[in-house]
Amino acid sequence: MLISPSVLNSDLGRLSEEISRVEGVADLIHLDVMDNHFVPNLSFGLPVVAGVIAHTSLLVDVHLMIDDPDRWAPAYGEAGAYSVTFHIEAAKNPVTLSKNISATGARVAAALKPGTDLDSLDGLLEHLDMILIMTVEPGFGGQAFMYDMMPKIARARELSGAHMWIEVDGGVSQNTIQDCKEAGANVFVAGSCVYSNPDPAQVVRDLKALVE
Ligand code: DX5
Ligand code: ZN
Repeated sequence: MLISPSVLNSDLGRLSEEISRVEGVADLIHLDVMDNHFVPNLSFGLPVVAGVIAHTSLLVDVHLMIDDPDRWAPAYGEAGAYSVTFHIEAAKNPVTLSKNISATGARVAAALKPGTDLDSLDGLLEHLDMILIMTVEPGFGGQAFMYDMMPKIARARELSGAHMWIEVDGGVSQNTIQDCKEAGANVFVAGSCVYSNPDPAQVVRDLKALVE
């Protein structure tokens, strides 16, 4: 069971301080890359992600909400990301892309928007280390958890077997994390519930305690 805080709704002017507040407590740190094309929001890209990788002891979990991941994603692995997630809706040749990411030494994952069926991963599962099930529409932190994604989490676990990591992202909090675990998830992204609290490390400990 791994907790991956998302910094999207943290104080981005103090990014490295915000990350250090969960170091030693979180398992991963989740960085949301948005290009204002695949999603209607713009965050940061490779230079910032590479800077974070150079300065944190946490493993970096990169979530690319961008068009043309075939072109851009492998560079995040080369920069030292621990895990690189692309959106299946945006990938032109997901098998080749997954192999290219794996060749950098990073773990590789495909993300699905709420409206995207798991069938879209047909023929790809054997090339993946993780499936990311979005439990909000990607683009913004602080949205309500979509409970109707529960059967999809369970189906992802069924289809992929015990070795696959299943990550949930969007609206995960103290109220929803146990249901996600019960459905079969083992990696939990939590953004606003961690960083809207004056003690983010304590929230991460609380989330961990709820799933362990
Ligand atoms: C949304 C991002 C999420 C977001 C999660 O598109 O992928 O990682 O930061 O934030 P919360 O936990 O607030 O939903
Ligand atoms: Zn994310």
